[in-house]
Amino acid sequence: MDPETPTPETAAETAETGAQESAPAEATGEDLEQIRQRIEHLRELVRYHQYRYYVLDDPIISDAEFDALFLELQELEEKYPQFRTPDSPTVRVGGFVSDRFRRVRHPVPVLSLANAFNEEELRAWRQRILRLLPEERRGELAYTVEPKFDGLTVVLHYDHGLFVLGATRGDGEVGEDITPNLRTVRSLPLRIPVGDVKMEPPARLVVRGEAYVDVADFQEFNRRQAERGERTFANPRNFAAGSLRQLDSSVTAQRPIKLWVYQILVVEGAENPPRSQWEAFDYLRNLGFPVCPENRHYQDSQFDELVEYVVHWHELRDRLPYEIDGVVVKVDSFELQEMLGYTGKDPRWAIAYKSGGEEVVTTLLDIQVNVGRTGVITPVAVLEPVEIGGVIVKSATLHNEDYIRELDIRIGDKVLVTRAGGVIPKVLRPIKELRTGQERIWRMPTTCPSCGQPLVRPPGEVAVYCVNNACPAQLVRRVEHFVSRGAMDIRGFGSKQAELFTAKGFIKNLADIYRLPWDEILKLEGYGPKRVENLRQAVEESKNRPVHRLLFGLGIRFVGSVVAELIVQHFPSLYRLMDASEEEMAAIEGIGPKIAQSIAQYFSLEPNRQLIRELDSLGVRVEEPEAEVKEERPKPFAGLRFVITGTLPHFTRNEAIAFIEDRGGKVTSSVSRSTDYVVVGENPGSKLAKAQALGVKTITEEELLALAREREQANADS
Ligand code: IVH
Repeated sequence: MDPETPTPETAAETAETGAQESAPAEATGEDLEQIRQRIEHLRELVRYHQYRYYVLDDPIISDAEFDALFLELQELEEKYPQFRTPDSPTVRVGGFVSDRFRRVRHPVPVLSLANAFNEEELRAWRQRILRLLPEERRGELAYTVEPKFDGLTVVLHYDHGLFVLGATRGDGEVGEDITPNLRTVRSLPLRIPVGDVKMEPPARLVVRGEAYVDVADFQEFNRRQAERGERTFANPRNFAAGSLRQLDSSVTAQRPIKLWVYQILVVEGAENPPRSQWEAFDYLRNLGFPVCPENRHYQDSQFDELVEYVVHWHELRDRLPYEIDGVVVKVDSFELQEMLGYTGKDPRWAIAYKSGGEEVVTTLLDIQVNVGRTGVITPVAVLEPVEIGGVIVKSATLHNEDYIRELDIRIGDKVLVTRAGGVIPKVLRPIKELRTGQERIWRMPTTCPSCGQPLVRPPGEVAVYCVNNACPAQLVRRVEHFVSRGAMDIRGFGSKQAELFTAKGFIKNLADIYRLPWDEILKLEGYGPKRVENLRQAVEESKNRPVHRLLFGLGIRFVGSVVAELIVQHFPSLYRLMDASEEEMAAIEGIGPKIAQSIAQYFSLEPNRQLIRELDSLGVRVEEPEAEVKEERPKPFAGLRFVITGTLPHFTRNEAIAFIEDRGGKVTSSVSRSTDYVVVGENPGSKLAKAQALGVKTITEEELLALAREREQANADS
């Protein structure tokens, strides 16, 4: 595992305390920077938890918690498109590909689903669909409702009726070849049609399904494993996934894996190919695939009935022998599906309905405060441990002093806690009816719990700060930030080391990181010569990081990594920056007065100026060599809109998007008159025809590369 991925502790901690109110629509420059940082942080968390889930088969948060993180990220990216990046986990379809198995590229992206958490969102989904469809087609609208099986997605390839390849979903574009393991799944047809059905198999068929294990089989397996003192699994999903990702398929063969098939990804050379999802179920069933008998069909005129069924999906769950984590509603007709298209990785024509965030009651045992890197003090609820949706929750954010006062939350109260979509876990309100009179009103401490210095609440702010620069808790947080991946990226140096080295007195300011007494560290438990040498080297290597990383690492308020880069472009030397006036800094486009003031304030303090000098004398790069100062050139694809269709010869879809976006271009999902180029690969979709009809230019991947080169050259010459 990458040593710099967040540790389970930090990841879980952030998942618990990272909850924030959604940002105001009109955000200021400073708010924006915080939002950008939150987005970055969410991306890191999502990647980490995907890695645990898909690669290690060992998740440490529940699906609901993961969904909440993912949703928050998605919402922020939607609201603030300027912070979208092509490498965001929301752009990938999900998952990871490990190198344990051969990689297989899926013939079409194996997409995921958008979620609805309540009736309102489900109805809003239908309204969106109605709006998007031309009026004359709305009458054809019908839906399927299917259980959302909680297992492992598999992609099954049939060549002239023969099962030739089975893969995991991986990242949605590339999966892992687990054919030998899948062959052991008894309900998976190795040849279609099954039995003496008089039906020609299609020349090519690729279907998607979910491999799963019945709950009773899972429990029985765990019981036997526990008896033998062997590994048990957390839930049936993990059990199914772990079993199918075995290197030895004779192990898989011993496991009670089952299968439901629910989507046709590719069908070629079929006599009577299905034209709707409902027809596809029949078609697949006739070929001999296991198709779930619980699937349902509704006309649009029956949408109220559909809603009634969907919002009570747990009744379905309770009577099924396997786990489902919601239901999936899909537009039935393939033609209408095609017209509705996709947003990023999710089809517009389908939606997953999940629980509307369980709310539970528990006791608020205490309110403690956390000291952050900038000295901000956050109240945290200590809760009587309680299970919410399968996870034990022990603490939850309380945001700030005003939140507690406005809701009149008291220590000892019974409180309502939730982990609903987007925010995790959160105290919703106290249940005042259950008060006994023993509850205590909480007051924000007047002194810092770490250093004992008086706390300060700046006028107009809701946050309270410890302004003592020497506060030990802040120092630990500052060191954590300084060594973190986005900053000086010191491998092997994480929260534990920050805590330990400051507690031992080795680190009193950030420069001490470069003066660590390695001989002393060698005497500490768990710090053998090899580990210490690696750490020493990592510290050494970090001295040469670009100056903007150092500036970011200093942890100046409002100076996130983007701001830091912008500033270093204009002030390549921190000595120069130290003496710059607020006006000079605010003159940089993208730097507002609040940021400028914050930096000026930071460098007005002698210990901070001294820190830069010390870092310099210890060999840390504090000035960028002149030549490396980047000149801003216009980007070659600025202002151009692209659409991609079909499989490109070398780029994956995401790589092509990244290529275009890095050069300032925009990639959209549908062709219109404002599209400048449609990049066409193998097996293009209807977008090609549309481009031709509208007279939009079509180019190949090679021509795309040539276009980038030409325009880059033209920019350089001008
Ligand atoms: S449809 C484009 N239908 O749920 C179609 N997915 O994020 C998208 N899943 O891991 C998928 N049951 O594998 C669909 N009846 C069902 C499903 C289903 C389970 C899984 C899917 C994916 C997740 C959706």
